[in-house]
Amino acid sequence: MKKAFITGINGQDGSYLTEYLLSLGYEVYGIIRRNSVPEHQQSRIEFVRTNLHISYGDLSDVSGLERLLREVQPDEIYNLAAQSHVRISFDVPQFTVQTNALGALNLLEAYRNTCPNAKYYQASSSEMFGNSVDPDNYQRETTPMRPTSPYGCAKVFAFNITRNYRNSYNLHAVNGILFNHESPRRGSNFVTNKVVKGAVMIKRGYAKGLELGNMDSYRDWGHSKDYVRAMHMILNHYIPDDFIVATGQTHSVREMTEYVFSKLDLDYNEFVTQNPKYLRPEELTYLRGDSTKLRNTFNWIPEYTFETLLDEMINFWLENIK
Ligand code: NAP
Ligand code: GDD
Repeated sequence: MKKAFITGINGQDGSYLTEYLLSLGYEVYGIIRRNSVPEHQQSRIEFVRTNLHISYGDLSDVSGLERLLREVQPDEIYNLAAQSHVRISFDVPQFTVQTNALGALNLLEAYRNTCPNAKYYQASSSEMFGNSVDPDNYQRETTPMRPTSPYGCAKVFAFNITRNYRNSYNLHAVNGILFNHESPRRGSNFVTNKVVKGAVMIKRGYAKGLELGNMDSYRDWGHSKDYVRAMHMILNHYIPDDFIVATGQTHSVREMTEYVFSKLDLDYNEFVTQNPKYLRPEELTYLRGDSTKLRNTFNWIPEYTFETLLDEMINFWLENIK
C-alpha cells in the first residue's frame, strides 16, 4: 500500500486529493493546524473513515515536519498548504510569505533530510505569471513570471526552490502550475463560490444584493476534481518536471456572474454592486492556460466544463440553503 503525505489536507484540493488517492488504494497522512474552534475544521474530510491519519502540524514548524516525515516515510508528498487568498495576501504579506515561500522550503528540507527517495509535489499557481501573457494570449510553462501580489511572489519562490532542490540534490520534486479551480468545496470568499452562494441567497430571499470587486478580470476556471487527478499524474511521471494544468478557456467575472444569476432566473444588474474593498492594489487581469504539454504527456482530459462546474456549485447551494 503506497503512502501519501498531504499538507493542506482539509482544504479544497486536499480533500479531493485524499478521496482520489484512497480510491487508488493509498494510505493517506495529513497535517492540520491547531484551531481554537475545532468543530468544523475537518468538515471537508470528516466523511473519510479508513486509511486516513491526521496529525497536528504547521509548515512553519520544521522539527514537527521532520518528525512526521521520519515516522511516516511516505512515497509521495503533496505540499498543498498555503494562505491561498490573493487579496488577503496584501493584508497579511509576511504571514503569506512565511507560509507559502518559507513553508515550502521548510518542507523541502524535512523531505531531503528524512525521506529523499519520496516524490514531492509543489502546488504552484498561475498567479505567478501576473500580467505576463504570450503573444497568442496564453500562458504556458515558458511564459515569464511577473507576479502582481505577495501571494504570487511567494509562490514564485516556492516554484524556484522546488526546481533548485530537484537539480541540486537529485530529488524527484515537481511543480504543477494550476490555473483557478473551483468546486462546491471552494472557500466562499473566492469569487465563484461567493457569486453562486450570494445568488442563491438572493433567490431564496435571504439577501437583497451582492458586493463584488473587479468584474472585468478574466480567469481560466476548471474543477478541483479534474485537477487533483493531474497532480497525481505529474508527480508520478518517470522524470521530475513542471506542467501547466488549465482548461484553455477564459471567462470574465462578469460573464460568470451573468451565467449564475440567469440560471436562477435573475438579472445580475439588479443585484450586484461594486465595493472598492474587494479590489486589489494591483490586479491580475487575464489568465488563459495552455496545457498542451500535460495533455500530450498524460492524455489528461477534464471531465467538467465551465457550465457543468457552475451548475454543480449552484445545485449544491440550492440544496443547502432552503
Ligand atoms: P485552500 O482550500 O485555501 O486550502 C489551503 C490549506 O492550507 C488549508 O487546509 C489550510 O489550513 C492549509 N494551511 C494554511 N496555512 C498553513 C500552514 N502554515 N501550515 C499548514 N497548513 C496550512 O486552498 P486550495 O484551493 O485547496 O489550494 C491548494 C493549494 O493549491 C494552495 O497551495 C493554493 O495556493 C494552490 N493553488 C490553488 C489554486 C486554486 O484555484 N484553488 C490554483 C493554483 C494553486 P486551514 O484550514 O487551517 O487554513
Ligand atoms: N475573491 C474575490 N471576491 N474576487 C473577486 C471579487 C470578490 O468579491 N470580485 C471580483 N473578484 C475578482 C478578483 O479581483 C479576481 O480578478 C477574480 O475575481 C478571481 O478572484 P479569486 O476567486 O479570489 O481568485 P484569484 O484568481 O485571485 O486566486 C485563485 O486562483 C489562483 C490561481 O490563479 C486562488 O485560488 C489562488 O490560490 C490561486 O493560486
